[in-house]
Amino acid sequence: MRPIHKNRKILETKHHERVFTRGAKQRFHFENIYGLMLIVDLVLKMLFIRKIGLRNATEVGLNEVELGIKGLPRNFDGCRILFITDMHLGGIDYLSENIINIAKNAEYDYCFLGGDYSLRLSAKEVGRQLGKIVSFLTTKSRVFGILGNYDIYQIAEQLNDFGVEMLLNEHVCLERGAERIYLVGVDDCSMFAAAELKEAEQGIPEGAVKIILSHPPELYKEAEQAGYSLYLAGHTHGGQICLPGGVAMVVRACIPRKLVKGEWRYRDMVGYTSCGVGTTGVPVRFFCPPEVALLTLRRDGNPG
Ligand SMILES: [Fe+2]
Repeated sequence: MRPIHKNRKILETKHHERVFTRGAKQRFHFENIYGLMLIVDLVLKMLFIRKIGLRNATEVGLNEVELGIKGLPRNFDGCRILFITDMHLGGIDYLSENIINIAKNAEYDYCFLGGDYSLRLSAKEVGRQLGKIVSFLTTKSRVFGILGNYDIYQIAEQLNDFGVEMLLNEHVCLERGAERIYLVGVDDCSMFAAAELKEAEQGIPEGAVKIILSHPPELYKEAEQAGYSLYLAGHTHGGQICLPGGVAMVVRACIPRKLVKGEWRYRDMVGYTSCGVGTTGVPVRFFCPPEVALLTLRRDGNPG
């Protein structure tokens, strides 16, 4: 990890001055309207469904998905990624234990962390809980991470100390035999407007197969234009509180609805938006189970 980008520190300070908006784009953000969250909480209690929602939110499962990637090198066919995002530790009890249990029983080659690590914890407590999770994850595989809109730069430093390879507008080369693909991690493009895709890509050879790890899916157009094959994101929580059928009531990002959760395509690029592990606002979920995603990469046209 490079020294924390100076822009991130400046943007974090400015954020506290404009908590009711979303960074440079000045967009409305539901999660920052605390009064509204209290009303939603009260309504759920009056309808006697808050406990059900809380139980739903604790039942984290492993979601296994195969993604067909155009041009994926042969040696990466079958490569498995454990994708954990939006833990929001401090929101719901026992999430750390659930995550560790899922990772223990899963077989994978790499682990990617998609940001939004904590909710209401002090830096010390985040460090303690993340340390427990990450010290297990790093015994199984290389672990790569990015920051989300809830994260402060100290979390990147802590994760780096725990052995996570943090990608703050940086890339790494993943090798299998003589073949290579590139993983590009960008900083948060929503709240902090801190993503720098061009800077992150510097040094990647022309025509290489690239995966982008970005907290929100909002860079999908830029990523497709830049030739990415796979876009991995979280941030939306899949809507978190959804209508029957999983229809999200709040999208939380400037994206088409098909990008809110699960697998999607934009032209030649495949994407996956994880529903995430934790919650924000009210700690409940309806028709949108929390997940750790186990993604198996396949050469396009080879479903395995
Ligand atoms: Fe989140």
